[in-house]
Amino acid sequence: MEKKRIVIITGANSGIGKAAATLFASNGFTVIMACRNLEKSEKVQKKICSETNNPNVKLMELDMSSFTSIQAFSKEFQACYSHLDILIHNAAYFNHGEKYRLSPDNVELTFATNVIGPYLLTDLLLGHLKNADDPRILHASSNIVKQFFDPMWKINFDQIIGEIDNTKGFSVYKMYAHSKMALVMLTFRLAEEWKGEGIKVNALQINGAKMSKETLQKVTTGWRAIARIQNLFFPPPEKMASIYYDMCTSEEFRNISGKLINDKKEVMNPGHLKPNAVMQVKQLTGNAYYPPYADQKENQEQVWYLCQRALKEL
Ligand SMILES: NC(=O)c1ccc[n+]([C@@H]2O[C@H](COP(=O)([O-])OP(=O)(O)OC[C@H]3O[C@@H](n4cnc5c(N)ncnc54)[C@H](OP(=O)(O)O)[C@@H]3O)[C@@H](O)[C@H]2O)c1
Repeated sequence: MEKKRIVIITGANSGIGKAAATLFASNGFTVIMACRNLEKSEKVQKKICSETNNPNVKLMELDMSSFTSIQAFSKEFQACYSHLDILIHNAAYFNHGEKYRLSPDNVELTFATNVIGPYLLTDLLLGHLKNADDPRILHASSNIVKQFFDPMWKINFDQIIGEIDNTKGFSVYKMYAHSKMALVMLTFRLAEEWKGEGIKVNALQINGAKMSKETLQKVTTGWRAIARIQNLFFPPPEKMASIYYDMCTSEEFRNISGKLINDKKEVMNPGHLKPNAVMQVKQLTGNAYYPPYADQKENQEQVWYLCQRALKEL
């Protein structure tokens, strides 16, 4: 008998996550909406169930910034299901303008939610992913990583773990960019780890998707004005959701792993360390290249070290 296909989507109650949950549900998947706010998410879940005529859209509580919540979610999922086909790390913290905040486990909140949380959840669900026929993982990254074409940009590893005595110059905007770069490096590193094991992991570089009023409210006033203007030019979230779907289900992506993909579903290539003027323009304005920073082993190792350190705390 064919196994029922199961997808977990984090942050599936709004924006791209919600659009993706609807698309997977329309295509007969069992969809696990992994969300932190159950009251708000329940309304969305019911709507998706009725619109898609799919009763297998389930809501489960998950706060991506909390190790305890990630562990509890994984336990509950493992108790209910025998395998996991697709894991989409869509949830993210990007409340630009907010002050420095720590997660319950003493990790800077942006990094906790956008990098460490996804790594821990993947690690805990690895056994179930291995039970699937064609397991795939997607990390939602962002074109904000282009900032790293500037050689002055480096991940500020000093502000990630715990002590708040060094928050000078901290900005959620920068940390968000750092976290999305770290996610790309984690993608590359995980693919290396799993070579030959059949689990595919890729990252999607999202250039923009129309944000809801609620999402805009989460950023502070000055940032909100900028985001509102950007929003005028962004495509609807359904566009990105359809790329999530293709990357996680299509034959085209069956053997692709450890890559950063652009919004034309093309594999992106590393940019040049010392580009000439033409190349520089191509790198900054196009979507064919990612910053060479992402390929530097010492940077990847630092991200890996942070993830391993968190794993030991479980
Ligand atoms: N929209 C864009 O222009 C754009 C551009 C580049 C990249 N992206 C990326 O695309 C992804 C989706 O973004 P979106 O635009 O669809 O934003 P969104 O509508 O604000 O969705 C973000 C989701 O993440 C959830 N979330 C945040 N912190 C969480 C936590 N600790 N635990 C569990 N869930 C949490 C939110 O839940 P609550 O409702 O509970 O807050 C919400 O469901 C994100 O990874 C984002 O970085 C978006």
